[in-house]
Amino acid sequence: MEKKDIDWGNIGFGYMVADYRYVSYYKDGKWDDGAIVSDPNITLNECAGVFQYAQTVFEGLKAYTTEDGHIVCFRPDLNASRMVDSAERLVMPPFPEDRFLDAVKQVVKANEAWVPPFGSGATLYIRPYMMGINPVIGVKPADEYMFRILVTPVGPYFKGGAKPITIKVSDYDRAAPRGTGDIKAGLNYAMSLRPIVKAHEEGFAENMYLDSGSRTKVEETGGANFIFITKDGTLVTPKSDSILPSITRRSIMVVAEKYLGMKVEHREVYFDELKDFAECGLCGTAAVISPVGKINDHGKEICFPAGMEEMGPYTKKLYDTLTGIQMGTIEAPEGWIYTID
Ligand code: PLP
Ligand code: COI
Repeated sequence: MEKKDIDWGNIGFGYMVADYRYVSYYKDGKWDDGAIVSDPNITLNECAGVFQYAQTVFEGLKAYTTEDGHIVCFRPDLNASRMVDSAERLVMPPFPEDRFLDAVKQVVKANEAWVPPFGSGATLYIRPYMMGINPVIGVKPADEYMFRILVTPVGPYFKGGAKPITIKVSDYDRAAPRGTGDIKAGLNYAMSLRPIVKAHEEGFAENMYLDSGSRTKVEETGGANFIFITKDGTLVTPKSDSILPSITRRSIMVVAEKYLGMKVEHREVYFDELKDFAECGLCGTAAVISPVGKINDHGKEICFPAGMEEMGPYTKKLYDTLTGIQMGTIEAPEGWIYTID
């Protein structure tokens, strides 16, 4: 398969129009068979539920080329099941999990020319999403839905690649209120647009959101969960029912314990504790593991001992092991790797 002529090592986290996308429609209480199509545009009625009441959810995962030339995805079953949770919270008919996996396989295979080569530093980002498409003017869920998957090759999420970033403590909430912070609904990301623009204007790469009730506990950033390393090498990661249950974070907890023999704590993390940690990082599909060197709390800086030049030693070990598993150079736990081709 001839790959597209792209300078894989120099692409950022952006959108490119790939050749194919997957689409399936829900009408009269059932999903149709779905198909691979080539048109990247969507035409909808002006009153579609997605436009009026933001009835839309999404997922994010990646396809990787392994060292021996296979194309694989990392734990896509967990994306399928999280999308069911997101859909149910917005009163949308879940897209069946087995169909989700099949659709991912179809769309990645169709776009094989867009899957970046092994070792290029790029991967294929896969974005499943779903929306209400028939007209609704009273506040109620739609009756008809569209499930789609687009793919686009991507490089590092943060400018500067693996260099540590500086983030700020936000005064905003990340998500819409009333217990929606743990789902991947577009409306939560809409709520984070103003804070992210503000953070970027001030020179910060991301926001650290605190719990909206007491503003004493660390939640997550706009697009990633946190990991922290204590001075004696324990992995600590915030537990909260108002953050997205990151698949990367859940995987890192296993990697830390089972591959690296680290102690792992999944618990509430108080902002006051941060000054005592040795390393800090952001984890997610897009972020992979991105080191945080500094946190700015309204002008007061928390500087992690690992510094601003490179990842701290534990973060690096976690990064190397996780990406090794994803790219097939380190043996994965049973069921983590889904072979596309
Ligand atoms: N938190 C938020 C708000 C996100 O958007 C993401 C990205 O999906 C994550 C965390 C990381 O989750 P995952 O590791 O499943 O990609
Ligand atoms: C992801 O990591 O897949 C995300 O969704 C984060 C961001 C790009 C929204």
